[in-house]
Amino acid sequence: MGSLKAVITCVNAYVPDYILTNKELETLVDTNDEWIRTRTGIEERRLLKGEGKGTSELASQAVLGLLEKSGTDPLDVDLIIVATVTADMHFPDTATITAHKTGMKNAFGFDLSAACSGFLFALTTGARYVESGNYKKVIVVGADKMSSIMDFEDRSTCILFGDGGGAVLLEPQESPYGFMDSILHSDGAGEQYLHMKGGGSRYPSTHETVDKKMHYLFQDGRPVFKAAVKGMSSSISALLKKNALSPDDISWIIPHQANKRILNAVADYLDFPIERVAINIEKYGNTTAATIPICLWEWEKKLKEGDNLILTAFGGGFTWGAIYIKWAYNGNNN
Ligand code: ACO
Repeated sequence: MGSLKAVITCVNAYVPDYILTNKELETLVDTNDEWIRTRTGIEERRLLKGEGKGTSELASQAVLGLLEKSGTDPLDVDLIIVATVTADMHFPDTATITAHKTGMKNAFGFDLSAACSGFLFALTTGARYVESGNYKKVIVVGADKMSSIMDFEDRSTCILFGDGGGAVLLEPQESPYGFMDSILHSDGAGEQYLHMKGGGSRYPSTHETVDKKMHYLFQDGRPVFKAAVKGMSSSISALLKKNALSPDDISWIIPHQANKRILNAVADYLDFPIERVAINIEKYGNTTAATIPICLWEWEKKLKEGDNLILTAFGGGFTWGAIYIKWAYNGNNN
């Protein structure tokens, strides 16, 4: 094996214009700004409005910006993977729709469903294609229109989520930088705590499934909170150990943004300074598969060539894990 690495050479993201503030949520459900800020860290989130606009809109906007920023001809892209749990429809897949909308006529694509860990699973998958040497330009997207599965009468969930999309370009380079390693996990025993029951093959859509609110996300927050802290902390610890790294070797942890208290607990557990944990949950809430690429995009200017990054997530399934990346460029590469 040579040292052909899958390197992130560009990152971009898109969030819709509409801002749903905690104040506005106070008019919809029995909640208040203070509870939301102190229990979650969220101040506002973005919503995608507009008839017939789904997750491919978020993904396409992120990808169009990525192509422009990196000077990539859409015809040169080989593969697009879209991590999402809010696909435009059951089929065709959102990756194929996004490829069509963005002019990537030579690319094949597929969706990947791993809830909030979707971007980790998709990035690991995309890296394998690039490392094979057969795929030169692979785009990995995390995008979710969570507002499409929110019950805006359920205060325990509707305050948490937002809409957004982010994308990275992966290219092969003989390089010491790039995708280094990952540890990923799934455990279907978590289904009972976090799911959306209706509309799949188990409970196809009927008047009854709509009346019973089975097309909305359901979450039992406390067990998910505990499992998230444990899952992210243990996978980061295992990844550091496997690669003979200590917390001091890590420039940034770029985590999934589900709850600021979860991130504080993970940093405490690892004895890792919270100042080196990238946190932007206050602006976007939990955008599921999009949180990590949106965070990478916002942090891009601060990242330096050779920085060791840990990406980590926990989500429905349960799914969780961590990725170790050596960042390949200084600041914004354009
Ligand atoms: N406003 C005011 N009060 C509220 C609200 C609200 N929006 N929501 C709940 N409460 C109340 C509850 O009714 C409860 O009241 P009670 O004590 O009178 O019964 C009280 O606040 C405490 O409720 P908890 O659910 O115990 O609150 P908790 O501190 O656990 O916070 C939360 C809830 C924010 C959901 C937290 O459990 C959490 O972040 N869980 C993990 C989320 C996560 O990581 N998800 C994974 C990724 S998502 C994905 O994969 C799609």
